[in-house]
Amino acid sequence: MSDIILSVSGLSVGYGERPAAADVSFDLQKGEILCLVGESGCGKSTVLKALMAAPEIKLLSGSITLEGRVISDLPAKERRKLCSDRMGIVFQTPEATFNPIRSYRRQFIETLKSHGIYDRSAFDSQVAKAFEKLELKDWKRVIAECPYALSGGMNQRVALALALLLEQEILLCDEPTSALDATIQLQVAYEFKRLRDKNGVTQIIVTHNLALARFLADHIGVMYAGRLVELGKAEDVLSDPHHPYTKSLMEAVPKLDGEMPVGLPGSPPMTGPSESGCEFHDRCPLAKENCSCRAYAMQQVGDGHFVSCCDGKEAAE
Ligand SMILES: Nc1ncnc2c1ncn2[C@@H]1O[C@H](COP(=O)(O)OP(=O)(O)OP(=O)(O)O)[C@@H](O)[C@H]1O
Ligand SMILES: [Mg+2]
Repeated sequence: MSDIILSVSGLSVGYGERPAAADVSFDLQKGEILCLVGESGCGKSTVLKALMAAPEIKLLSGSITLEGRVISDLPAKERRKLCSDRMGIVFQTPEATFNPIRSYRRQFIETLKSHGIYDRSAFDSQVAKAFEKLELKDWKRVIAECPYALSGGMNQRVALALALLLEQEILLCDEPTSALDATIQLQVAYEFKRLRDKNGVTQIIVTHNLALARFLADHIGVMYAGRLVELGKAEDVLSDPHHPYTKSLMEAVPKLDGEMPVGLPGSPPMTGPSESGCEFHDRCPLAKENCSCRAYAMQQVGDGHFVSCCDGKEAAE
């Protein structure tokens, strides 16, 4: 039997009829961590929202298969219920997903009840344990607070603590460490690894932080303008990047030696994936004439390593 727990095939989704992410395909093995990276506006959150059947997202084409069952054909409401039963999500702005003026205690209890796992006698010790894992001191005071009264980093950790309490098979996290101090980031990163190693939790983690992706990911997917442009085992993508965009992202990472990194001028198109042509061609140092009209297609360049352009690799040789 296949160990694939979640499969996405040729998925195109949008906030209306126009796709914000297109032709996205990947398989997730049980217990695997996939990190999605890419600049702002490249469609990372959109993919996670589509997987959770967010009401604002429209499935335009392609399929989603969860635990062997094609779910993309189900009515949106049924799909949403199924997805929230099986998958947990920590949104990019957790404070926006909780009621800002309701205490976390009440919201935790409501959520645990809605999943049928609220145990009144165990609640306090469960919360204390989850908070401790995320270096959240003084859990009694924090859980009594409302989201509006806490800092962004604090809210992010409380949202993660709830995800730990729910213990779902699949965890989707949208920039879970972006508001955290470096030391806490490390703690949270270890917690993700522990979730995978001890509990076999499958995870998709969206991050801008390539160092975090290097530490956590089994596989890395690089997104640009709503498309996956490179996908493969983390070590292959980071040590042997083929797409010029992946190379540019890596070169833009600041180092501690004081040297300024090579920047990547410009920004991704706001219009999302185009009908034809490589969306990166106008920023690509290696662009050729036909890049603006070349059809998007992933090609295999190694074991489980796919890329929509190999020019970065040719240049590196
Ligand atoms: N609620 C929305 N309504 C309409 N378009 C949206 C909405 N949210 C995002 N988009 C558009 O979808 C595209 C992908 O956005 P998305 O938020 O998925 O990017 P992202 O990779 O998560 O960026 P970031 O790193 O800034 O979070 C962008 O062009 C964005 O403008
Ligand atoms: Mg986002």
